[in-house]
Amino acid sequence: MAKKTKFDFPINKLSENRWSPRAFTNKAVEKEKLNSVFEAARWSASAFNAQPWRFLVGYQGDDNYRKIFDSLAEFNQLWAGKAPVLILNCYQIYFSHNKKPNQTAQYDLGQAVAHYSLEAVNQGLYTHQMSGFDVDKANESFGLGKEITAFSVTALGYLGDIKSLPEDMQKMENTERIRMTQAEFLL
Ligand SMILES: Cc1cc2nc3c(=O)[nH]c(=O)nc-3n(C[C@H](O)[C@H](O)[C@H](O)COP(=O)(O)O)c2cc1C
Repeated sequence: MAKKTKFDFPINKLSENRWSPRAFTNKAVEKEKLNSVFEAARWSASAFNAQPWRFLVGYQGDDNYRKIFDSLAEFNQLWAGKAPVLILNCYQIYFSHNKKPNQTAQYDLGQAVAHYSLEAVNQGLYTHQMSGFDVDKANESFGLGKEITAFSVTALGYLGDIKSLPEDMQKMENTERIRMTQAEFLL
């Protein structure tokens, strides 16, 4: 379901239909669809083509899912546990070729996540990114932190019934999406 949004200019359908819901059904996501989601991430651009993104995928009921869920902030735990897939978005801290810190790794990870989020829409799925989680806790539970570190979490799945959410969250789910005008960010 596309959320009602007022665009000032026409844009592509995937960007038009992407938004970040909190109500997910727990219907499992088909493997082929997830393959396409991560294929879009795979073909994202990156500095030196270093491809520093790394993803840990949790499927509802498995160990990865539990660890990712446990790292989430309280507010996010109120809704994200319905999503059938939780992804821990991580990046490689150093370049493989010279072991120097990769200054654009976070930027490249963000692009990869943006690409897979749009592919998710293409597959009839929705994503909701979260920075509200404990990075150290996630790193520790997956043995990360030295070469690869967690950066954000994404809930992914099919859109669910708003009524499954706590009441105050139901209101947030219905609000119109708002943005600055282009004049405000075109400096
Ligand atoms: C890096 C990042 C971190 C975010 N963290 C959270 C979060 O912790 N909890 C949450 O409910 N939403 C989170 N969001 C979702 C944003 O609030 C949402 O993308 C924004 O309000 C715009 O709405 P839209 O994605 O529906 O267009 C995050 C989004 C991004 C990109």
